[in-house]
Amino acid sequence: MSNGEQESNLPLGLDVGTSRIVVARSVDKTQQPQYESQLNAFITMPYSKLADSLLEREGVFHEVCGGELVVAGNDAQRFAEVFHVETRRPMLRGVLNPQEPHSLPVMRSIITRLVGKAGVAGRKVFFSIPAPCAEGDQSIAYHEASLQQILKQLGFDAQPIQEGLAVVFGELGSSNYTGIGISCGSGLCNVCLAVLSVPVINFAIAKAGDFIDTQAAAVTGELATRMRVLKELNFTVNGLSGDRVQNALAVYYDDVIQTLANTLRSTISSAQRLPKLDQSVPIVLSGGTAMPKGFLKRFATALRPDDFPLKISEIRLAEDPLNSTARGALMAALC
Ligand SMILES: Nc1ncnc2c1ncn2[C@@H]1O[C@H](COP(=O)(O)OP(=O)(O)O)[C@@H](O)[C@H]1O
Ligand SMILES: [Mg+2]
Repeated sequence: MSNGEQESNLPLGLDVGTSRIVVARSVDKTQQPQYESQLNAFITMPYSKLADSLLEREGVFHEVCGGELVVAGNDAQRFAEVFHVETRRPMLRGVLNPQEPHSLPVMRSIITRLVGKAGVAGRKVFFSIPAPCAEGDQSIAYHEASLQQILKQLGFDAQPIQEGLAVVFGELGSSNYTGIGISCGSGLCNVCLAVLSVPVINFAIAKAGDFIDTQAAAVTGELATRMRVLKELNFTVNGLSGDRVQNALAVYYDDVIQTLANTLRSTISSAQRLPKLDQSVPIVLSGGTAMPKGFLKRFATALRPDDFPLKISEIRLAEDPLNSTARGALMAALC
């Protein structure tokens, strides 16, 4: 972070995702935002003075915590590969991971690294939070309050924004912030129907990238991290092929897409106070899980737009799917 920015009072957008945390900052209002991200992951190693000073010398992002060395963020992946261990994750299915004692301190250090101190007290930051799932309480209140506290301690005036609404802010300015924003991440797919920037329907499904990785790993006997790498490297959502890993990925990708389309349809159909919309509305898809070739087409087929409770004008992919939520959070903060 530059000194100039440290002293400035420009708002920030923060996407607090299950696998990545992204900050969006505007240099000035006419330019595209700048993005910076860190993996929301860490590994621990037993503390030794030597290891500590070696990490220091290598410029590796780490902290000493209760007799252990904690390497967090992007460096965690590199060190996990070096030491053949799995990275640990502070979040699970969209919220702080209740099974992980290190979750809060690790998130605090990654967020601090990305946003820094507010510089000017009361500087605005909008941070993404998940929508509720049909499966019930995901401890969103605790998650939200914990992030609020981390950001407040850094001097920010922090406000939560639901992830689907952030996508609407980031991508649907041209339709007056009316339409459906969807973020397909790792823990959840978050959905919001907004009319003139007001959220009308908000929900999440607990099937997304992590679900695909773990299920495909379970049926092929491979590691989930390997599934993730193969999925991100070259996977096309186009039905079954001769390769068993690709087939397993295709089956669970389809499960995610069908569940998303069906839940969107049933939630809108059963909504009691749906505003009367004469015009048709756009749908925009974002997030890492929406990136493979064929995803958009498959989703459009599963949604059956001709027989949908709302008129749909278009279904498209966000231009920069991995930064969409952070961008929208920043837009909302600038409003
Ligand atoms: N090119 C890609 N193809 C398929 N999946 C991807 C790709 N890039 C990222 N992903 C998946 O997207 C998810 C991360 O997306 P992201 O929007 O950053 O999620 P979150 O906000 O939950 O951290 C992970 O499950 C990751 O494996
Ligand atoms: Mg995200």
